[in-house]
Amino acid sequence: MVNDNTASPRHFLSLLDFDGRELRALIERAIELKTILGRGENYRPFSGHTLGMIFEKSSTRTRVSFEVGMTQLGGHALFLSSRDTQLGRGEPIEDSARVLSRMVDCITIRTFQHETVELFALHSRVPVINALTDLLHPCQLLADMQTWFERRGDIAGRQVTWIGDGNNMCHSYINAARRFDFKLNIACPEGYEPDAEVLEPAGDRCRIIHDPAAAAEGADLIVTDVWASMGQEEEQARREKAFAGYQVNDAIMSNADKQALFMHCLPAHRGEEVSASVIDGPQSVVWDEAENRLHAQKALLDILMSSKNPAE
Ligand code: CP
Ligand code: NVA
Repeated sequence: MVNDNTASPRHFLSLLDFDGRELRALIERAIELKTILGRGENYRPFSGHTLGMIFEKSSTRTRVSFEVGMTQLGGHALFLSSRDTQLGRGEPIEDSARVLSRMVDCITIRTFQHETVELFALHSRVPVINALTDLLHPCQLLADMQTWFERRGDIAGRQVTWIGDGNNMCHSYINAARRFDFKLNIACPEGYEPDAEVLEPAGDRCRIIHDPAAAAEGADLIVTDVWASMGQEEEQARREKAFAGYQVNDAIMSNADKQALFMHCLPAHRGEEVSASVIDGPQSVVWDEAENRLHAQKALLDILMSSKNPAE
C-alpha cells in the first residue's frame, strides 16, 4: 500500500496549501463523514494503510483524533515519540523522512520549528500533515471551520475576533481569513502581535486592535488560546502580567453579537485566557470543536491518501 510514486505528493503544512473551494469541499466531506459515522455505517477505504505520527510535543486531541480517525478509515496509526525514536538522538530530518515514507502511507508531525515540517515534507514520498508547529496549527482550523459551518453556514463576510497571543493559532486564523474570506480583528498586548510575514499578505481583512473590548465589538465569533504555548512554559509569569486585560469573559462576550459563538482549541486555563462562565456557557462550542478534529482530519486523510481533488 506504500505509495511508490516518487513524484512529490500533496502535503498539508498550512491552510494556504489548499484554496478556498478545496477547503469548503473538505469541510462538507467532514460533515458527511460525521453523519456516516453517526448512522453506524463503516467507511473503510484504507485497509492496510499506516499513518506515522511523529510527536515532539505533548498532545491529547491531535493524537487521539488522528489515531481513532485512521482506525475508523480501516487503517492503522503508529505513534512515534521523538523521545523513543532516533529522531530524538539527532538522526537527520531528511533521513527520517526518506526512511519512514518508504514504509507508511501518510505522516503527521508535531514539532517546534515550522522549517522542520517543511524539510521533512521535501524528502517524503508520502503526504505530510502539520500537526502543529510554533508557526501554524492548520488542522485545528479545519475543525473550527467545520464547527462554524455546522452551526451558522458559510463564514464568508463574517466578523471574527481573536483575543490573546499572536501565536500559531492566531496565524492559522489569519490564513483562514484569507481562504474563507472573513474579517479578523486581533486583540493582543503590545509585543505579542502575530508575525508580520503572516499578517501582511492578509491585507485589510485582518486588523490589530489592541483594546479587546473594541476588537470584540459586533463579532460573530470570539476565539482565544493559552497565553503561554508549548515551549514557552518559563515565560508563564511574564505572560500572565502582559495578558492580564485579555481574558475572554462575560464583559467581552457582551460586546460581541448576541448570536456570537466562542471557540478555544484547548487545553484551556479557566480564570486565565477565558472565564469559566464563558467556556462552560451557552455560547461556547468547544466540545463540538474538539470532536470535529476527528471528522475534519478523516476528510483530510481521505483526500491526501487517495490523491483526491477535494473540490471535484
Ligand atoms: N487543540 C489541540 O491541538 O490539542 P492537543 O494539544 O491536545 O492535541
Ligand atoms: N498555542 C498552543 C496550541 C495548543 C493546541 C500551543 O502551541 O501550545
